[in-house]
Amino acid sequence: MYYPEDLVEEIRQRNDIVDVISEHVKLKRSGNNHMGLCPFHNEKSPSFSVSGQKQMYHCFGCGVGGNVFTFVMEYENYSFVEALKYLAERAGIPLPEEEQNEEAKRKADLKTQLLEINRQAAKYFFYQLKSERGKIAYEYLTNRKLTDETIKMFGLGYSNKYSDDLYQYLKQMGYSDEILRQSGLVTFDEKKGAYDKFWNRVMYPIMDGNNRVIGFGGRVLGQGEPKYLNSPETLLFDKSRNLYGLNIAKTARKHNMLICEGYMDVIALHQAGFTNAVASLGTAFTGLQANLLKRYTDEVLLTYDSDGAGVKAALRAIPIMKEAGLRTKVINMRPYKDPDEFMKALGAEEFQKRIDEAQNSFYFEIEVLQKEYDLNDPEQKTKFFNEVAKKLLVFTEEIERNNYIEAIDRIYHMGFDNLRKLVNHYAATMVTTPTMIKKVQERSNNKRVTAQDSMRQASKLLLTWLIEDTRLFSKIKGIISEEDFDGELYQKVAGMLFQQYKEQGQVIPAKIINQFESKEEQNEVASLFSTTFQEEMSIMEKEKALNDLIYRIKKYSLDNRSRNVTDIAQMQSIIKAQADLQKLHISLADG
Ligand code: UTP
Ligand code: MN
Repeated sequence: MYYPEDLVEEIRQRNDIVDVISEHVKLKRSGNNHMGLCPFHNEKSPSFSVSGQKQMYHCFGCGVGGNVFTFVMEYENYSFVEALKYLAERAGIPLPEEEQNEEAKRKADLKTQLLEINRQAAKYFFYQLKSERGKIAYEYLTNRKLTDETIKMFGLGYSNKYSDDLYQYLKQMGYSDEILRQSGLVTFDEKKGAYDKFWNRVMYPIMDGNNRVIGFGGRVLGQGEPKYLNSPETLLFDKSRNLYGLNIAKTARKHNMLICEGYMDVIALHQAGFTNAVASLGTAFTGLQANLLKRYTDEVLLTYDSDGAGVKAALRAIPIMKEAGLRTKVINMRPYKDPDEFMKALGAEEFQKRIDEAQNSFYFEIEVLQKEYDLNDPEQKTKFFNEVAKKLLVFTEEIERNNYIEAIDRIYHMGFDNLRKLVNHYAATMVTTPTMIKKVQERSNNKRVTAQDSMRQASKLLLTWLIEDTRLFSKIKGIISEEDFDGELYQKVAGMLFQQYKEQGQVIPAKIINQFESKEEQNEVASLFSTTFQEEMSIMEKEKALNDLIYRIKKYSLDNRSRNVTDIAQMQSIIKAQADLQKLHISLADG
């Protein structure tokens, strides 16, 4: 459903952002802005800023930002249309009836259509589970001690024994073979024709953060291979950037998250009250998933299976989490294999104890390493100590490293000084470990991007300045245009801003945010308008700062252009502009 732009804008204007956010976050006035603790990351001192004048928010800590729609979407996990409905109701603005005819369906974009197909399939599987035919699956789930409430919460279902009933069902709803193929739910075979990907399996719908079904996992009933069949990667379903259960876990508002291996583990944990549990989707844990977790928490407790494969998976995941800035601990579930078994055997209270006793992941890594060595054999003991010393190099700060050396010494009695000497020895000689090489490379990569970074910082400053003092538009006219900004997003935003000013003599940055669909883009656009200035600058200082800024942006832009130009006439005009730039002087004095 598409709503007219004017209506969207009216709904935005009638919901003051300071009022809306104040309903959820305690805000305090500070200069032109309101400040509070960011609801999207953990923090102790406020870096979340809301501007009544701009009708935007921005967090200087975690970088999120946007207008009132963005806020409601992020805070309530709503899609744009859901946020629109919520805010329309809040302001008492009636919305036109939603059209659900063929025409409207066909017009919807591919992604929306695929979401609708997945939603219909989930409803169909759920209905099958509750029907006579689904009894076998329903009994399987109740045998595994799932309640009706849990089944409903996770939308579990059943794909029955017919090989093409889902296909027929979706066909009759008007979907084409082509789009059904793209949904991953139907396979087309030259000989067999169309048949359902899933049959005779218990179905686990996989949802994204906004509670939308993006794929499925299907578990075989009884024995059989593969145990779990998952939807293939589709336009909607990217296994590396989603986590099972995150749609619920992100609203759990606990100070940490639990990560486990399987669908059933997540479900068993949630049913026992640990609604902050998530799992990766049958593939190894990725950096994108770590970043996703980092948006909601600072601490992750690993609840991987206690068998060899689980330990391996944990050892692989720990550095990935660390890289994303997450604190990691490991939960010991022995003698049970996974959270599902643990919960059945000992229950929630005992599990909470295991959470409280969770082990710092570094000790876990050392403990696993130790098992490879026989500490009664002097030679092996020496090898182990050397390996431990190398591992301690990950702590680059001396105090932290010493604390760990002390703690390790307490467990393995290596002698604090001995161990520290060994660590220092490796620190001096081991510049060539893979992680160190990577660090050095990263550092030089960082250097390479700084010129561009500082240019973007300058662009942000100018864009923010323009919306806070629109007199600047006439001052930079003829000097800076949208093409002078670096990067597609910056150019697009600058273009919209210049156009608003030209057409209306004013700027409405919050309206610009509506033009961007993804949250990531909205966050970034909000950050372009949310730079902070030094408040107390004299007019002379301001003037100098502005001239510096314009000079840097224009010079970067001209230098870039001169590098790519081939035409002589163009080259000459660039050279002239470069010469003019040296004479640049913008005065702030005259009104
Ligand atoms: P598990 O076998 O531990 O899953 O595999 P589980 O959820 O605990 O299963 P049951 O129902 O209690 O026996 C962990 C995860 O690995 C993926 C699935 O995502 C599963 O949840 N997996 C496993 C597959 O993708 N395919 C398989 O064949 C097996
Ligand atoms: Mn299991």
